[in-house]
Amino acid sequence: MPVGEILISEKEIQRRVEVLGREIGDAIPPGDLHVITTLKGALFFAVDLIRALGREVTLGFITASSYGSSTESSGEVQLHQEDIGEFAGCHLLVVDDIIDTGRTLLAVTEALRTHNPVSIRTAVLIAKPARREAAIDADYVGFTIDDIFIIGYGLDYDEKYRPLPDIRAFSP
Ligand code: IMP
Ligand code: MG
Repeated sequence: MPVGEILISEKEIQRRVEVLGREIGDAIPPGDLHVITTLKGALFFAVDLIRALGREVTLGFITASSYGSSTESSGEVQLHQEDIGEFAGCHLLVVDDIIDTGRTLLAVTEALRTHNPVSIRTAVLIAKPARREAAIDADYVGFTIDDIFIIGYGLDYDEKYRPLPDIRAFSP
């Protein structure tokens, strides 16, 4: 595979996600907790994070896409909400892979807010603060990195490389 150096190893990811999951599970007040995972990039992260929460949850999914087959966002966020679940009266945790410009996370949280959850929190595996445009920050961040394109642990380039166990730099 023409992929770059390992930026975050499998071990580092596992340790961090475990700690983050416990922290989030403890921080969210008692009550029903619904976790919405944005597909597809956050899939691997969500599986590990959700198991580390240490509490009962219900699950939903939303598909957000703004990337075509390049490493630059197209800027337009498309959402598909077929299986977001029922979460009026629940605490809501939104799990996304990366907050880059912030447009995706903003669009997702705005759309979900209309379903009247008790609270909304956001968790992302990766934050890239350098390119932020939208006025939003994630409540919980796994790793903060510079403005480089990465793949692995769910993250893709043109739908490839998602199954890599570690996170790697990538230049097409
Ligand atoms: P934003 O709307 O600019 O914050 O873009 C966030 C979305 O772009 C993420 O959910 C990813 O799907 C995608 N993305 C941003 N940076 C990367 C990257 O380095 N690798 C893979 N996908 C990325
Ligand atoms: Mg995404």
